[in-house]
Amino acid sequence: MRVLVTGGSGRLGRSVLSTLAERGHQVTSVDTTPATPPDGVAAITADLLDATAREDAFTRAAPEAVVHLAGIAVPFAHPDVRTLQVNTGLAWAVLSAAIEHGAHSAVAASSPTVYGYNTPTWTPRYLPLDEDHPVQPWHAYGLSKEIIEGTVRSLARTTDTCVLSALRPGYVVAPEEWAGATTQQGHTMAQRLADPALAAGSLFNYVDARDAAELFALVIEHPERVRHGQVYNAVADDPLAPGPVDELMARLHPTTAPHSAALSDGRAVFSNRRARTELGWEPTRTWRTQLSQGRVG
Ligand SMILES: NC(=O)c1ccc[n+]([C@@H]2O[C@H](COP(=O)([O-])OP(=O)(O)OC[C@H]3O[C@@H](n4cnc5c(N)ncnc54)[C@H](O)[C@@H]3O)[C@@H](O)[C@H]2O)c1
Repeated sequence: MRVLVTGGSGRLGRSVLSTLAERGHQVTSVDTTPATPPDGVAAITADLLDATAREDAFTRAAPEAVVHLAGIAVPFAHPDVRTLQVNTGLAWAVLSAAIEHGAHSAVAASSPTVYGYNTPTWTPRYLPLDEDHPVQPWHAYGLSKEIIEGTVRSLARTTDTCVLSALRPGYVVAPEEWAGATTQQGHTMAQRLADPALAAGSLFNYVDARDAAELFALVIEHPERVRHGQVYNAVADDPLAPGPVDELMARLHPTTAPHSAALSDGRAVFSNRRARTELGWEPTRTWRTQLSQGRVG
């Protein structure tokens, strides 16, 4: 199938391009940042906020499916208003273009930050956090992702020919980061695992970029499995910690203490059950397998 991927030069995008190409799709990447794409993938350098450039990219790619990753991917990386404008503007423009150009599915990247953790008073109603749990974003990045999820729901009401959805990838770990490259936070994965204070900021969530890419592929390959207009957590089965995180959560996020016992069997703070049971996703790359070359422990 012809697939247009926005943000294909990025951390997650590179794995999405490779995964889709390996699965036999005809892939076009669109990104403001030029990068050498994997073999067989076409690359267009363009700003998707520019209407003319966007229209040209969609016309050239003629996508049957769209994977929308482009945007500002880190909280506080830019002034708040810019983060809101770029992320929400891109999502509306790209997903609308997908519908207008006849794609039969389109999926956008959201984020677990929509849940709103990391405030002194954030209190979950229950743990693990699933897609039915209320969202309460408090920073511009998290709010932009809630609006992206709202954009998916809104546009889903306008079409029954293009199945729309959003995925919430956990802390994305690219292959080179497992191998020792520093992450977007400036530390290595081994350091993140060794110091709970580092992973606590994301409630110990993570996902291997290739596993996440496989979920994006499943969503566009099986639109009949997808809940039109809905969202799926895309996180690993286990937390990014050497053992259960019930005590760590109670200590580092005290407001979660009433519910942290639910994590005592080693499960992650976020549930991926919906993606597993409804989409058939099976994340297979855990920190235990990926860091097994002796860099940890
Ligand atoms: N990395 C994570 O841990 C993580 C977690 C949850 C959600 N996400 C989301 O997944 C998506 C991809 O994340 P990532 O880590 O690969 O980010 P990234 O910053 O590595 O890649 C984003 C890409 O989007 C491109 N881009 C930005 N604005 C653009 C525009 N106007 N037109 C075209 N391209 C543009 C950038 O050049 C960049 O290559 C983002 O939407 C991010 O918010 C990432």
